[in-house]
Amino acid sequence: MSLCDDLEQLRSEALSAFTAAGDAKALEAARIKYLGAKGRLKDLLGQLGKAPADIRPLAGKRANEIKNELEGAFAKAQAEQGRATAAAVPVFDITEPLPPEARPLLGKRHPLTRTVDSLMQIFHALGFEMVEGPDVEDPRHNFDDLNIPPDHPSRDSFDTFFLEGNREALLRSQTSTVQVRMMESRPPPLRVVAPGRVYRPDKIDATHASTFHQIEGLYVDREVSMADLKGTLKLFVSGLFGPDTKVRFRPSFFPFTEPSAELDCTCPGCLGRGCAVCKETGWVEMGGCGMVDPAVFEAINRTRGDDAYDPAVWSGFAFGFGTERLAMRRHGITDMRRFLENDLRFLRQI
Ligand code: DAH
Repeated sequence: MSLCDDLEQLRSEALSAFTAAGDAKALEAARIKYLGAKGRLKDLLGQLGKAPADIRPLAGKRANEIKNELEGAFAKAQAEQGRATAAAVPVFDITEPLPPEARPLLGKRHPLTRTVDSLMQIFHALGFEMVEGPDVEDPRHNFDDLNIPPDHPSRDSFDTFFLEGNREALLRSQTSTVQVRMMESRPPPLRVVAPGRVYRPDKIDATHASTFHQIEGLYVDREVSMADLKGTLKLFVSGLFGPDTKVRFRPSFFPFTEPSAELDCTCPGCLGRGCAVCKETGWVEMGGCGMVDPAVFEAINRTRGDDAYDPAVWSGFAFGFGTERLAMRRHGITDMRRFLENDLRFLRQI
């Protein structure tokens, strides 16, 4: 076979080898075999010198053309492989949102916790300190020092959980216990809010639970008046439900406040126009409040053994709200049991 035929043969073999090479390694092997320093083309070029003089120029020219063509084909095959590899590597775009089914389950704070946090922010801005008290209490903190008489129905075991066989230990039925604890341990002036859990043997329904939460407030200073109480609670309600919320105070009775009041505000659901939540009245109940009864100060002084809370010098206001009730008004929830069921379908909506 002539040198020219050999060159043509080499060309077609090399072209198919480059196309067939499945990966970079195979492609490189083909390059070395056909175009390498000791490759087939080099070999044929070496034979040129011995070729008959009449075919030498033609064969030389053709050999050059083939060399260029093969180098081009190799480069093209290499580029194609590079593109294929790049396409095969998955590109990770950190800005691209995941499809819903691939999103990790992110936790968030419980709606009750969020309501407490918002309230604490509001009271913090008004100069109140957040404090806490124990869930297991004695009758003195839950009743006696709050001026609740010995025969008061709330002391009945139908209304309070006593620990088994022990009339001296109970689960607090109100966060007002923290008022007593604070005044016992600190001299006036005092400005505290106490969120916490309370317990009552209530029949469970959409608005009652045996375990629920309250937020207690106590402000003791010189010359604290009902106007301070009204102003503070108005700010608190506006902070929670919006600046247009109106408040009203209805006379009431609590053993530890005198005078006592119930606070209502315009229904956040219908903004006072009337809806199912507020039973078409436009108003919803928020909680109890009043001026600290001097009898409470006297009880505290007896425990402390001093007259730090002299009712002639100090006055104060107190308030107590149901946290669930606030969160229900805030989010338009109608059944209080939802807060304790831990049903993610409910919790995720809020
Ligand atoms: N402790 C009361 C209750 O559980 C609520 C309450 C009313 C708290 C008036 C107060 C207050 O501090 O002044 O029903």
